[in-house]
Amino acid sequence: MMKNPSASPFYMISCLVMLLLLPLPSLLADPDPLQDFCVADLSASTSVNGFLCKPASNVSSDDFFFDGLSKEGNTTNIFGSNVTAANVLSFPGLNTQGSSINRVDFAIGGVNPPHSHPRATETDLVISGQVLIGFVTTGNVYFSKVLTAGQIFVIPRGLVHFQKNVGPGKALIFTTFNSQLPGAAVVPLNLFASTPSIPNDVLTKTFQVGDDVVNSIKSKFVVKLGPYSR
Ligand SMILES: *[C@@H]1O[C@H](CO)[C@@H](O)[C@H](O)[C@H]1NC(C)=O
Ligand SMILES: *[C@@H]1O[C@H](CO)[C@@H](O)[C@H](O)[C@H]1NC(C)=O
Ligand SMILES: *[C@@H]1O[C@H](CO)[C@@H](O)[C@H](O)[C@H]1NC(C)=O
Repeated sequence: MMKNPSASPFYMISCLVMLLLLPLPSLLADPDPLQDFCVADLSASTSVNGFLCKPASNVSSDDFFFDGLSKEGNTTNIFGSNVTAANVLSFPGLNTQGSSINRVDFAIGGVNPPHSHPRATETDLVISGQVLIGFVTTGNVYFSKVLTAGQIFVIPRGLVHFQKNVGPGKALIFTTFNSQLPGAAVVPLNLFASTPSIPNDVLTKTFQVGDDVVNSIKSKFVVKLGPYSR
């Protein structure tokens, strides 16, 4: 008589391994909230994975409202762009909601330099102008597109990407994230403007250039860039 294959130990162990490998929804982005809201108490002296909630009895409509993205950012800086962030730090009502949004203004020719968000997938919506948006995969494949008003582009989680104004005038985009605090590792600032500095011999060997080139690049970033160090 044929042995029932579904009863073999190997089959059962394989099924168990498959089950353990299935992605759990709560591991895909920020954790799910355990209550309707948890407006961050940014002044609390303890913090958890996120922020403590301010008492619900103290919460008002204003806690769910943020006016910071209505104003154009000042793009007079070396990159010709300005990021205004509505994340949990500026907008505490986002705490535990797994969501945030940035406004990015561009001067003519402005660039939001290559950076990555370790904790979020990003969706970019162009409001006005013409914007080149590109990202590079971990396998060094480059994907990009020039977008105009109303068009969107998705940046897969954690990948290095940039936006550049390629139109004849100013440009404006909004970028949304599935994290209350996506984090931003800005590649040029990470490498050339950290505190303390990465030793020059690491950078000269990495980029196959001399100290003069590394020092020249470092000197461009001595001016504090405000929100770029977010
Ligand atoms: C509640 O709000 C009031 C008025 O803003 C403030 O004085 C008080 O400290 C708050 N209470 C708590 C527990 O946060
Ligand atoms: C962005 O714009 C704001 C508001 O005008 C300004 O305070 C800030 O310094 C600007 N950031 C940069 C990096 O230029
Ligand atoms: C924008 O920033 C530049 C450089 O910091 C400054 O000179 C200029 O006054 C600012 N413009 C506005 C409208 O605040």
